Amino acid sequence: METKCEVKHGLEGVAVAISSISYVDGEKGELIYRGFSIEDLVEYSNFEETAYLIWFGNLPNENELDFINAMLTKKRELPKNIIRLMYLFPKNAHPMEVLRSVVSVLGMYSSDNNSTFEDAINLTAKIPTIIAYWYRIKNNFSLIHPNEDLKHSENFLYMMFGDIPQEKELFDKSLILHMEQGMNASTFASTVTASTLSDVYSIITTALGTLKGQLHGGANEKVLMMLEEIRTIDYVEKYVNDLILKRKKIMGFGHRIYKTFDPRAKILKKWLNEIKEEIRYYKIALKVEEVVLKNFKGKKIYPNVDFYSGILYNYFNIPKDFFTTIFAMARIVGWTAHAMEYCKNNRIFRPRSIYNGPKNLDYKKIKEVKING
Ligand SMILES: CC(C)(COP(=O)(O)OP(=O)(O)OC[C@H]1O[C@@H](n2cnc3c(N)ncnc32)[C@H](O)[C@@H]1OP(=O)(O)O)[C@@H](O)C(=O)NCCC(=O)NCCS
Repeated sequence: METKCEVKHGLEGVAVAISSISYVDGEKGELIYRGFSIEDLVEYSNFEETAYLIWFGNLPNENELDFINAMLTKKRELPKNIIRLMYLFPKNAHPMEVLRSVVSVLGMYSSDNNSTFEDAINLTAKIPTIIAYWYRIKNNFSLIHPNEDLKHSENFLYMMFGDIPQEKELFDKSLILHMEQGMNASTFASTVTASTLSDVYSIITTALGTLKGQLHGGANEKVLMMLEEIRTIDYVEKYVNDLILKRKKIMGFGHRIYKTFDPRAKILKKWLNEIKEEIRYYKIALKVEEVVLKNFKGKKIYPNVDFYSGILYNYFNIPKDFFTTIFAMARIVGWTAHAMEYCKNNRIFRPRSIYNGPKNLDYKKIKEVKING
């Protein structure tokens, strides 16, 4: 007889772990990492310090920060054979497909010392290089190799474009916003892989495959596609109303946990407001937000992080199909922190499904089955 259990569609309301990494208050619209509000972290911190905080649970002192900087800096370059391999990929491959594939291949190049943290640092250091190299290979540009004098995020912008924009700090801070967010879909998927005691490369390959979906990290690219399609403010109302009539999802809106404005979207919107020059698609986005909020009054559907992040990345000249890879470049910190935390008190994930198919069917050999007609 089957044990009785209840299906929680989409695991809504189910907790699968106890964690001290981040806290989300979906009603108030609050997000904290290890006790610090993201508002404070984007104000005072940077990628390296926040990564240290998320991994180790406390802000680094100077020695600890030097250690993390040195580790991240020296592991940036990719093995030559992987670079050669990347030149063989079809140029129209999606950057998330490339990232997922290269991370998986990197697993073959890892040392056998089985240190999850070293592998986590190795991938965190190399992901920006994979993204930037693919951007340059895809566009037939020569590669720009990592520069050890530059910080994590500015080195990424340098490897992409050959120069570093004035607003480099804004880009760095946007990574902080994307670093961690509790037991979201990709973190859960990667924690499942971690719970089987698999390796970090497999854990992150799982996470990347999950993040790519448009209901998760892939939404940022879809938002920009929508804004491009809308093109003018006058068309917003009709466009959004048509989507609602057809019961289609509006990308960049809604969240399983946030039932008010996503605090990350709020911060991104504030930054976009503060940039003096006109930002492409921003006015259209504001109008989309207005129309969506009007239509969904009372339904608690608000902009999420992916609604405004694409507009910022577009401002940095990052092509839209690369947006989700930028998300991944930051979220690797959260994924690896959760994998390490969960494995300290590991139990393999093994939920159930409730069978509703037939039973006791008579097996007929293929020769005995009569073909109709
Ligand atoms: C994020 C998301 C997947 C959360 O999903 P969820 O918690 O399972 O919520 P549901 O999809 O069940 O939505 C609940 C209700 O709100 C509606 N809804 C939620 N998000 C919506 C959106 N973006 N556009 C239109 N309707 C939306 C659903 O249609 C559903 O309505 P119903 O009760 O009348 O059927 C969902 O809001 C979504 O698909 N958003 C768009 C993709 C996106 O921006 N993803 C990035 C998330 S950070």
